[in-house]
Amino acid sequence: MKLERSDDQVFPTVMKGIMDTMHFPTEFLWGAATAAYQIEGAWNEDHKGESIWDRFSHTPGKITNNETGDIACDHYHRYLEDIALMRELGLNAYRFSISWPRVLPDGFGRINPAGMDFYDRLVDALLATNIEPFITLHHWDYPQTLQDRGGWVNRENLPYFADFAALMVKRLGDRVHRWATFNEPDDITEHGYGSGEHAPGGKNDWKTVYQVGHNLLVAHGLAVQAIRDINPAIETGIVLGCWGVDPVSDDQSDIAAADLVWNSQRIGFLHPIFCGHYHPAMIDKAGENFPVVNPGDLALISQKLDFLGINSYSRTLVGAQGIISPVPGAEYTDMGWEICAPAFRRMLNKIHHDYKLPPMFITENGAAFPDAVALDGKINDVRRIDYLRQHISQVGLASQDGVDIRGYFVWSLLDNFEWGHGFTKRFGLIYVDFDTQKRTIKDSGEWYRRVIASNSIDP
Ligand code: FCB
Repeated sequence: MKLERSDDQVFPTVMKGIMDTMHFPTEFLWGAATAAYQIEGAWNEDHKGESIWDRFSHTPGKITNNETGDIACDHYHRYLEDIALMRELGLNAYRFSISWPRVLPDGFGRINPAGMDFYDRLVDALLATNIEPFITLHHWDYPQTLQDRGGWVNRENLPYFADFAALMVKRLGDRVHRWATFNEPDDITEHGYGSGEHAPGGKNDWKTVYQVGHNLLVAHGLAVQAIRDINPAIETGIVLGCWGVDPVSDDQSDIAAADLVWNSQRIGFLHPIFCGHYHPAMIDKAGENFPVVNPGDLALISQKLDFLGINSYSRTLVGAQGIISPVPGAEYTDMGWEICAPAFRRMLNKIHHDYKLPPMFITENGAAFPDAVALDGKINDVRRIDYLRQHISQVGLASQDGVDIRGYFVWSLLDNFEWGHGFTKRFGLIYVDFDTQKRTIKDSGEWYRRVIASNSIDP
């Protein structure tokens, strides 16, 4: 096998020590991210409705060790303690999501005042600590009642998302200025409706899967419209999962194979949002499964956004023979994701070059490792520090290349419920003992605190 991208493998050692300290703009956002279902717990408290993740995790055999988010990090009750920890880290922004069935137990109609009050208190407590709240409206915990009416397959359900967005913006929009509609709609489509690894656990035909993808984009468009109708000053965007795709060598056949993966898979959402039509390679790949697109859909989908959130953890390496995994000699995280920081900069440059994008935020980047508490009570997570150092450096380099990146959020603030993996994958800057709910800042958290305080990084 040809492996000619040796620059990737030697990067950390070569780069360390030869690059100058990289400084970030004064107004750069340094944050951490979470999602409601992964941390809140209180799954059936204070009149919250059931979400598809409650239903899915309560179904035996779906989650490692049959774990659930019933309690998770108990953040619903401990949010003040968690904000105090954010303050210790020196974060100036915090990205979190709203549990839709906590505020609208049926997904529409009846409002749950206790749920609304929770987010109100959370936002006020963040602002009192000078931490900017950065909201994702939907990070996968869809109301079960809407699922029972056909979920994202049913077009009639789409306006409910806009109503939910409007409800939240009316309540919090005076204090929260940046709102993302969806987190990784590609994941909902592929894993929620395709492979069934995520809630609602659907294993559908391709036609349905493509239709869900399209419907999510329409729902995004409706929500953007609803938010702008209420307050045009609010910055509205979307968070897309985007891992780079690299060819294994400079051979034409390898490059063509990598391009095909990128064009037919990765930009399924990016392209319609920023070009107003689906990419020809995706149309080709979908063939007769291409979704039904109503007149006006693409105009709705491609409304101008104020920002783009990018979640990125790894890359895919492709040769003419297909996807190469594992990559010989490469290092992997506990998720089985290859660590390849230079691919991050390449991907950011590529999307910046190929599309007319609004300012970007790195809304998620981080790594799972099997952390352990040492005898002195510390969590010496050097591998995570190394991962973050490499990736933040690449964000700095991409900015120097001309990519407009306004902030970076580590995934995640806390160890939490990692979807199908339950509590077995630790991503946090803060260690959580799930038996006692004790939180301990890891060494990576201390390291990140210094990055934030100096607003710079020593690659
Ligand atoms: C992303 C999800 C996030 C978390 C990380 C590891 O795809 O948005 O909730 O699970 O992966």
